[in-house]
Amino acid sequence: MCSIGEGSNRSGEYTARMMKPARIAPSILAADFARLGEEIRRVEPVIDLLHIDVMDGHFVPNVSLGFPVIASIRSVTDLPFDCHMMTTNPDAYLELLRASGGDLVTVHLEVFPDPIAVAGQARAAGLRFGLVLNPPTPYEAVEPYIELCDMVVIMSVHAGFGGQSFMAETMSKVERVRKYVDSAGLSTDIEVDGGIDPQTVGVARAAGADVFVAGTSVFRAPDPIAAVAELRSAIETQG
Ligand code: DX5
Ligand code: ZN
Repeated sequence: MCSIGEGSNRSGEYTARMMKPARIAPSILAADFARLGEEIRRVEPVIDLLHIDVMDGHFVPNVSLGFPVIASIRSVTDLPFDCHMMTTNPDAYLELLRASGGDLVTVHLEVFPDPIAVAGQARAAGLRFGLVLNPPTPYEAVEPYIELCDMVVIMSVHAGFGGQSFMAETMSKVERVRKYVDSAGLSTDIEVDGGIDPQTVGVARAAGADVFVAGTSVFRAPDPIAAVAELRSAIETQG
Protein backbone atom coordinates (compact mmCIF):
# COMPACT_ATOMS: atom_id res chain seq x y z
CA MET A 1 0.00 0.00 0.00
CA CYS A 2 1.20 3.50 -0.78
CA SER A 3 0.42 6.76 0.92
CA ILE A 4 -0.72 9.30 -1.63
CA GLY A 5 -0.12 13.00 -1.10
CA GLU A 6 0.00 15.98 -3.39
CA GLY A 7 3.02 17.13 -5.29
CA SER A 8 3.91 18.71 -8.59
CA ASN A 9 6.36 17.73 -11.28
CA ARG A 10 8.98 19.95 -12.90
CA SER A 11 6.43 21.52 -15.23
CA GLY A 12 4.19 22.32 -12.27
CA GLU A 13 1.55 19.70 -13.12
CA TYR A 14 -0.20 17.76 -10.40
CA THR A 15 1.35 14.37 -9.61
CA ALA A 16 0.37 11.94 -6.87
CA ARG A 17 3.13 11.14 -4.38
CA MET A 18 3.35 7.39 -4.21
CA MET A 19 5.23 6.84 -0.99
CA LYS A 20 5.68 3.32 0.30
CA PRO A 21 5.12 2.41 3.93
CA ALA A 22 8.01 3.75 6.01
CA ARG A 23 10.86 1.34 6.68
CA ILE A 24 13.35 1.70 9.52
CA ALA A 25 16.98 0.71 8.91
CA PRO A 26 19.05 0.96 12.09
CA SER A 27 22.77 1.46 11.53
CA ILE A 28 24.90 -1.00 13.46
CA LEU A 29 27.67 1.61 13.56
CA ALA A 30 26.09 2.82 16.82
CA ALA A 31 25.68 -0.68 18.29
CA ASP A 32 27.93 -2.23 20.92
CA PHE A 33 30.28 -4.28 18.72
CA ALA A 34 31.16 -6.57 21.62
CA ARG A 35 27.50 -7.65 21.73
CA LEU A 36 26.59 -7.21 18.07
CA GLY A 37 24.55 -10.40 17.62
CA GLU A 38 22.53 -9.70 20.74
CA GLU A 39 21.94 -6.06 19.74
CA ILE A 40 20.67 -7.12 16.30
CA ARG A 41 18.43 -9.90 17.65
CA ARG A 42 16.84 -7.47 20.09
CA VAL A 43 15.62 -5.05 17.41
CA GLU A 44 15.05 -7.60 14.64
CA PRO A 45 11.29 -8.04 15.26
CA VAL A 46 10.57 -4.32 14.92
CA ILE A 47 12.84 -3.19 12.08
CA ASP A 48 12.82 -3.63 8.30
CA LEU A 49 16.45 -3.55 7.14
CA LEU A 50 19.83 -3.54 8.81
CA HIS A 51 22.09 -0.68 7.66
CA ILE A 52 25.76 -1.63 7.57
CA ASP A 53 28.31 1.17 7.22
CA VAL A 54 31.59 0.04 5.65
CA MET A 55 34.37 2.66 5.83
CA ASP A 56 37.89 2.34 4.44
CA GLY A 57 39.85 5.29 5.90
CA HIS A 58 40.30 6.68 2.36
CA PHE A 59 36.92 7.80 1.05
CA VAL A 60 36.10 8.84 4.61
CA PRO A 61 38.58 9.45 7.44
CA ASN A 62 37.17 6.63 9.55
CA VAL A 63 37.45 2.82 9.51
CA SER A 64 34.48 0.75 10.68
CA LEU A 65 33.96 -2.90 9.80
CA GLY A 66 34.34 -5.29 6.90
CA PHE A 67 33.29 -8.57 5.35
CA PRO A 68 34.12 -10.99 8.21
CA VAL A 69 31.79 -9.01 10.46
CA ILE A 70 29.03 -8.96 7.83
CA ALA A 71 29.37 -12.73 7.35
CA SER A 72 29.21 -13.26 11.12
CA ILE A 73 26.02 -11.30 11.60
CA ARG A 74 24.43 -13.00 8.59
CA SER A 75 24.20 -16.09 10.77
CA VAL A 76 22.09 -14.31 13.41
CA THR A 77 19.39 -12.69 11.27
CA ASP A 78 17.43 -12.96 8.03
CA LEU A 79 16.96 -9.18 7.82
CA PRO A 80 17.93 -7.64 4.48
CA PHE A 81 21.42 -6.11 4.69
CA ASP A 82 21.60 -2.56 3.32
CA CYS A 83 25.35 -2.15 2.81
CA HIS A 84 26.57 1.45 2.57
CA MET A 85 30.04 1.39 1.06
CA MET A 86 32.03 4.47 2.10
CA THR A 87 35.05 3.14 0.23
CA THR A 88 36.97 4.15 -2.89
CA ASN A 89 36.81 0.76 -4.63
CA PRO A 90 33.63 -1.08 -3.62
CA ASP A 91 33.48 -2.55 -7.15
CA ALA A 92 36.43 -4.81 -6.24
CA TYR A 93 34.41 -6.44 -3.46
CA LEU A 94 30.90 -6.96 -4.83
CA GLU A 95 31.06 -10.74 -5.04
CA LEU A 96 32.62 -10.95 -1.60
CA LEU A 97 29.90 -8.68 -0.24
CA ARG A 98 27.21 -10.93 -1.71
CA ALA A 99 28.95 -14.06 -0.40
CA SER A 100 29.14 -12.43 3.04
CA GLY A 101 25.37 -11.92 3.05
CA GLY A 102 24.84 -8.47 1.52
CA ASP A 103 21.49 -7.88 -0.22
CA LEU A 104 21.67 -4.25 -1.34
CA VAL A 105 24.89 -2.36 -2.03
CA THR A 106 24.94 1.42 -2.13
CA VAL A 107 27.96 3.25 -3.52
CA HIS A 108 28.77 6.95 -3.54
CA LEU A 109 28.17 9.00 -6.65
CA GLU A 110 31.30 10.95 -5.66
CA VAL A 111 33.28 7.74 -6.29
CA PHE A 112 31.34 6.76 -9.45
CA PRO A 113 30.17 9.93 -11.27
CA ASP A 114 29.19 7.55 -14.09
CA PRO A 115 27.82 4.53 -12.22
CA ILE A 116 26.51 2.46 -15.13
CA ALA A 117 29.30 -0.14 -15.05
CA VAL A 118 29.28 -0.60 -11.28
CA ALA A 119 25.49 -0.99 -11.28
CA GLY A 120 25.84 -3.81 -13.80
CA GLN A 121 28.61 -5.44 -11.77
CA ALA A 122 26.51 -5.27 -8.60
CA ARG A 123 23.54 -6.90 -10.30
CA ALA A 124 25.77 -9.55 -11.87
CA ALA A 125 27.00 -10.35 -8.35
CA GLY A 126 23.39 -10.82 -7.21
CA LEU A 127 23.06 -7.54 -5.31
CA ARG A 128 20.43 -4.83 -5.50
CA PHE A 129 22.01 -1.46 -6.27
CA GLY A 130 21.76 2.09 -4.98
CA LEU A 131 23.54 5.43 -5.22
CA VAL A 132 24.41 7.71 -2.29
CA LEU A 133 24.84 11.49 -2.43
CA ASN A 134 26.93 13.33 0.16
CA PRO A 135 25.55 16.72 1.24
CA PRO A 136 27.57 18.85 -1.26
CA THR A 137 26.63 16.69 -4.27
CA PRO A 138 23.77 18.28 -6.21
CA TYR A 139 20.56 16.55 -7.29
CA GLU A 140 21.46 17.07 -10.94
CA ALA A 141 24.36 14.61 -10.59
CA VAL A 142 22.03 11.71 -9.82
CA GLU A 143 19.05 12.51 -12.02
CA PRO A 144 20.39 10.73 -15.15
CA TYR A 145 20.94 7.57 -13.07
CA ILE A 146 17.80 7.32 -10.92
CA GLU A 147 16.30 4.68 -13.21
CA LEU A 148 19.43 2.60 -12.72
CA CYS A 149 18.81 2.37 -8.98
CA ASP A 150 16.76 0.26 -6.61
CA MET A 151 17.47 2.94 -4.01
CA VAL A 152 18.71 6.54 -3.93
CA VAL A 153 20.26 7.58 -0.61
CA ILE A 154 20.45 11.21 0.42
CA MET A 155 23.03 11.75 3.17
CA SER A 156 21.67 14.13 5.79
CA VAL A 157 25.12 14.25 7.45
CA HIS A 158 28.62 14.06 5.96
CA ALA A 159 29.51 10.40 5.47
CA GLY A 160 32.09 9.09 7.92
CA PHE A 161 30.78 9.29 11.47
CA GLY A 162 27.67 8.51 13.46
CA GLY A 163 26.12 10.94 15.90
CA GLN A 164 26.14 14.06 13.71
CA SER A 165 23.32 16.61 13.43
CA PHE A 166 20.69 16.31 10.71
CA MET A 167 21.18 18.79 7.83
CA ALA A 168 17.65 19.87 6.92
CA GLU A 169 18.91 21.63 3.78
CA THR A 170 19.59 18.25 2.16
CA MET A 171 15.85 17.52 2.11
CA SER A 172 15.34 19.57 -1.05
CA LYS A 173 17.20 16.75 -2.83
CA VAL A 174 14.80 14.18 -1.36
CA GLU A 175 11.88 16.23 -2.69
CA ARG A 176 13.41 16.33 -6.15
CA VAL A 177 14.16 12.59 -6.24
CA ARG A 178 10.58 11.92 -5.04
CA LYS A 179 9.16 14.08 -7.84
CA TYR A 180 11.28 12.34 -10.45
CA VAL A 181 10.44 8.84 -9.18
CA ASP A 182 6.72 9.55 -9.06
CA SER A 183 6.60 11.37 -12.39
CA ALA A 184 8.41 8.49 -14.09
CA GLY A 185 6.24 5.86 -12.36
CA LEU A 186 9.26 4.19 -10.73
CA SER A 187 9.31 2.22 -7.49
CA THR A 188 12.79 3.37 -6.41
CA ASP A 189 13.29 3.52 -2.66
CA ILE A 190 14.42 6.87 -1.25
CA GLU A 191 16.54 6.58 1.89
CA VAL A 192 17.72 9.33 4.24
CA ASP A 193 20.89 8.58 6.22
CA GLY A 194 22.18 10.48 9.24
CA GLY A 195 20.89 12.34 12.27
CA ILE A 196 17.47 10.65 12.16
CA ASP A 197 15.56 10.85 15.45
CA PRO A 198 11.91 11.37 16.41
CA GLN A 199 12.22 15.10 15.60
CA THR A 200 13.91 14.82 12.21
CA VAL A 201 12.28 11.66 10.85
CA GLY A 202 9.04 13.55 10.17
CA VAL A 203 10.94 16.16 8.16
CA ALA A 204 12.49 13.41 6.04
CA ARG A 205 9.11 11.71 5.55
CA ALA A 206 7.48 14.98 4.57
CA ALA A 207 10.20 15.48 1.95
CA GLY A 208 9.32 12.10 0.43
CA ALA A 209 11.65 9.48 1.92
CA ASP A 210 10.49 5.95 2.61
CA VAL A 211 13.57 4.36 4.26
CA PHE A 212 15.13 5.92 7.37
CA VAL A 213 18.59 5.07 8.69
CA ALA A 214 18.94 5.66 12.43
CA GLY A 215 22.06 4.69 14.33
CA THR A 216 22.49 6.73 17.50
CA SER A 217 18.77 7.27 18.15
CA VAL A 218 18.14 3.49 18.12
CA PHE A 219 21.22 1.65 19.39
CA ARG A 220 22.27 4.29 21.93
CA ALA A 221 18.74 4.60 23.33
CA PRO A 222 18.05 3.00 26.73
CA ASP A 223 15.30 0.96 25.02
CA PRO A 224 16.00 0.48 21.29
CA ILE A 225 12.62 -1.19 20.68
CA ALA A 226 10.79 1.80 22.15
CA ALA A 227 13.07 4.08 20.11
CA VAL A 228 11.97 2.38 16.86
CA ALA A 229 8.32 2.70 17.96
CA GLU A 230 8.88 6.41 18.58
CA LEU A 231 10.29 6.84 15.08
CA ARG A 232 7.28 5.05 13.57
CA SER A 233 4.84 7.11 15.56
CA ALA A 234 6.58 10.36 14.54
CA ILE A 235 6.28 9.26 10.89
CA GLU A 236 2.58 8.42 11.28
CA THR A 237 1.93 11.79 12.87
CA GLN A 238 3.53 13.30 9.81
CA GLY A 239 1.00 11.40 7.66
C1 DX5 B 1 27.46 8.02 8.50
C2 DX5 B 1 26.72 6.74 8.28
C3 DX5 B 1 25.37 6.69 8.91
C4 DX5 B 1 25.42 6.75 10.40
C5 DX5 B 1 24.07 7.11 10.95
O1 DX5 B 1 28.68 7.95 7.84
O2 DX5 B 1 26.53 6.52 6.91
O3 DX5 B 1 24.68 5.53 8.48
O4 DX5 B 1 25.83 5.53 10.96
O5 DX5 B 1 24.23 7.27 12.30
P1 DX5 B 1 23.45 8.37 13.14
O6 DX5 B 1 22.03 7.93 13.17
O7 DX5 B 1 24.14 8.32 14.44
O8 DX5 B 1 23.58 9.69 12.42
ZN1 ZN C 1 25.18 4.86 6.32
